[in-house]
This record gives sequence, C-alpha cells and structure tokens, in this order.
Amino acid sequence: MDLELLRRLVDAAGQPVEIEALAATRGLTIDQLMELVDGLRRAGYVIERIHPHGSAALRLLRTPDLLYAHEVERRLTTRFLGQKVISVETCASTNDIAKDLAREGAASGTLVLAERQSAGRGRVGRVWHSPPGAGIYASLIVRPDDPAPSAAVLQFTTGVAVAHAAMKKTGKPARLRWPNDLLFGGRKAAGLLVESIDTGVSPTLIIGIGLNVNQIEEDFPEEIRGIATSLRLVGGRPLDRIEVLATLLATLEEWYDRMARGDLAALAAAWRPLSSLMDQEVVLELAATRSRGTVADLDPVRGILLRVESGEESWVPAEHVRFIRPVVTAK
Ligand code: BTN
Repeated sequence: MDLELLRRLVDAAGQPVEIEALAATRGLTIDQLMELVDGLRRAGYVIERIHPHGSAALRLLRTPDLLYAHEVERRLTTRFLGQKVISVETCASTNDIAKDLAREGAASGTLVLAERQSAGRGRVGRVWHSPPGAGIYASLIVRPDDPAPSAAVLQFTTGVAVAHAAMKKTGKPARLRWPNDLLFGGRKAAGLLVESIDTGVSPTLIIGIGLNVNQIEEDFPEEIRGIATSLRLVGGRPLDRIEVLATLLATLEEWYDRMARGDLAALAAAWRPLSSLMDQEVVLELAATRSRGTVADLDPVRGILLRVESGEESWVPAEHVRFIRPVVTAK
C-alpha cells in the first residue's frame, strides 16, 4: 500500500487531484502511478478516476472499515496511547503479541490491534469471541512511572474510561460488573484483561480490551446471544470503529493521567456510580473462604468495603476476590 499517495488523496479532502501532477512529483509514469492506485483499491479504498477539467484526476471516495495502523495513527488525538500502532489481520490474541513486543522493548503506549482473534482470551480462562469486522480487539503496552499502580488499579481506571467512552458513543447509561465488564441493560458489551509481565526492567502492564461495536444479534454465537450486546445495538446505529477507538483512547489517556498523578479519589468517585455492586447484598468468594454482606463502599486501592450482618465493616482487596455475585432474594 503506497501511503504517500494515500496521504495526498486524504489531504485533498474529497477534492480531485490531477494524475499527471501526482505522477510528476513522484517521478513516476502514469501507468506506474495507476498501479499504486490499484494497490490502494485492493486494500479497500474507493478511488474514482474523473476528468473534471479535461485532465484526468483521482478522488478518494471512501476509506475501508478496517483498522489499518496508518488510519488509526492518523485519527488518534492522544499524547502517548497509540503513538505506535501495530495492526494485524488475524492473530491468536493481541495480548500475546503485546507481551512479546513489550519483552522486545516496545515503547509505553504501543497499541496492538487485530481484525480477528483465533484465541481471544478473557478473565478466569474465558474465551473472547472475536469475529472479523465488527469488534475492537486491542492491547496496550504501558510502563507506568514509579510508583507503579497495581494491575487492579489499572483495571478500574480502564473500566471507567471504557464505560465513559461507550456512554459518549451511545448516549445510554452503562454499568460496570465486577471487576470491569461493561454492561448495557444487563448485557455485556466489553471486557478487559489486564496482565502484568516481568520484563526485568520497568513494571510493564498489558491492557487488553475487547469491545463489541457493530455486531447485530445474529453475529453472536448462540451461547452468548441474549447476554451480549454491542454499541450499535445499544445506540441504534452503526459506528465507525476508528472513531470509537479514538474516543476510547482519548478517554483512557485522561483517566490514566489522573491515576498517574495519584488522583485516585476522582477515579473512585467515577467508579462508584458505575458499579452495579454499590449497596448490594453480595456473596464474596476469597481463596479459602466465602463471606456474605453488603457492599458499603468501593475503592480502587482498598477494594470492597463489606458490611456483614453484625454491622462490622472491613476492606477486601480486589486481588483477593475470586468471585462476587449479588444475592438474589425471593420476593
Ligand atoms: C473478559 O471479559 O473476561 C475479558 C475479555 C478481554 C478480551 C480482550 S480482546 C483483546 C485482548 N486480547 C485477548 O486475547 N483478550 C483481550
């Protein structure tokens, strides 16, 4: 794909660009230039050849709905998240690619994207269904400054950012199910998988985000139909995935910066109203024990404040929680 030619067509913002001028500035013949145009067309760009003033010209009509790295880089507004984008057509898991790149020294903020994943992973051994074209499968490498946040704090930061970005795009209220499943009307639209890795140098974390953007009901496998949703189903219109990604990364960068400044109070304040756990009666499963009580507070560092029947309250760190579920009482 000839990115220089593409840039000329993009810069013309829908206006025709003379073929002769294009070829001359590149030192190419018209035939050679048209071969490059065909390359762009094969990649999905719709380019028409017209004769506006007698001389042949090209006009870019449409860019493909694909997460090409150059398209994503062009449209991101962030300072460091996604400054380097690696985009693949298919892979097992973008988190695995990100881990390998991180070990090879990739910069903080590097973004890995895939059109589809053959072995997308979720938390606690779950599978993340990752068909091509409709979702965003993204992994970010971050190397936080000292003192580095725990994976749990980074998860909550990302959860709040994903929820805020998704609400901006759909105009509908979202909730976060512990620890950070994004729900609309009780159905899951996104999941996060934050993993820390030992690179021997600085603390490195991988933020994996799976976001359903343009799926319709039939796109989900039967076993998750009815419990999964997408931004399109929620908001009632298809969305430009790169635009969604740009909003998501810009929102995440804002929250990441707050977290890095140590403003965890702002994070907690944003997280509490999103959480579906606040004031709920729950059963909490830890490594060896199980407790029942009411969630009196949530805090990104301290975890869950559980009030048991006697009225006694104690903090349970997020990383100790294996499982939490609301108690369903018979009416
Ligand atoms: C969950 O809901 O349990 C978390 C799902 C996380 C899925 C994303 S998709 C991009 C990245 N690559 C993976 O293999 N998993 C995460």
